[in-house]
Amino acid sequence: MSNIKINPQALEAINNYSIDWDNIGFGKCMAPTMIVADYNNGKWGDLEMVPYGNLTLSPTCKVFHYAQEIFEGMKAYRVDRNGPLLFRPYENAKRFNISAERMVMPTLNEDLFVESVKVMAAHCKDFIPTKTGESLYIRPFMFATEEHLGIKPADQFKYMVLASPSGAYFSSDSITIQIERRYTRACPGGTGYAKTGGNYAASLKAVKEARERGFDQTLWLDSEHKRYLEELSGMNIFCLINGELHTPAMTESILDGITRRSLIDLAKSYGITVHESKMDIDELIAQIQNGSCTEAFACGTAAIITPIGGFGETDGKKYELKESFGPIASKLRDGLLSIQEGRTEDPFNWIVDLSKL
Ligand code: COI
Repeated sequence: MSNIKINPQALEAINNYSIDWDNIGFGKCMAPTMIVADYNNGKWGDLEMVPYGNLTLSPTCKVFHYAQEIFEGMKAYRVDRNGPLLFRPYENAKRFNISAERMVMPTLNEDLFVESVKVMAAHCKDFIPTKTGESLYIRPFMFATEEHLGIKPADQFKYMVLASPSGAYFSSDSITIQIERRYTRACPGGTGYAKTGGNYAASLKAVKEARERGFDQTLWLDSEHKRYLEELSGMNIFCLINGELHTPAMTESILDGITRRSLIDLAKSYGITVHESKMDIDELIAQIQNGSCTEAFACGTAAIITPIGGFGETDGKKYELKESFGPIASKLRDGLLSIQEGRTEDPFNWIVDLSKL
């Protein structure tokens, strides 16, 4: 028995939906249905699947003024018509509640969170792309709906789940990264580890300026010393140095990526040594220049593994990697995707196969 109500109009919207498979892009084509639930008087109301559509909200909802908002990014896979398959959905449920706690928002029962994602993936299964690297991107999120301009934590919220048949996040095979030495995304004691819109808003100016200089993303350094690598906004980072993988150790200003954690386990299972430690930007530059750093890549739910072709500075200095899509990035990408897409054994028990429920 499902805990989620299914509105008959949502089923009608699903039946009448058609999709232009050649133009799905990333996050722009929306599935015809969504899940909504409201939090009032200290408890969650029923979750309901309804047709996808606009919301009517008071302009005084606190989210518009004080940004009390959190979200998750997940994918359902159906390559070779397997599944639908979900990847580690309870990890997203846990992180959602960690973000909720930081942003003074109510938590959602983990089983209910996962059930809401399962219901969306199962009902949208015909809109899940079947080519490798493509998927149904699922976006659970929650925001403050209390109507009041006073600055205090809201007591009314809306939880929603959207889905978007999606292709690659980046249009190129590899990306270039500007080392961000001026702006800061997050700081100790801040919200960097929470998946909240404000962290992404804080990144936009730097990314806009980096794009104007020809880069794809910015590499955030720690706010105190402007020296230690953190993350790339929406993605974590790995570098291959002397044949071993290095990624910044978690701090409270880095988002704890589920893809990052999965890659650490996968790489170790291949016999690759992985270091989670402080990474100094000047040391990394020297390692690129002396050839000991041979590969670097970004990873995240949306980005999967995207190789980094090189880094650069705002003054025009460039540090090119030897390999723009090296063998380790390629092996890990293939290994991860083939587990996620159900094309190989899943020794880690990461996959939830919705066809077997
Ligand atoms: C994700 O990978 O799910 C994210 O939230 C990142 C965003 C850039 C789409």
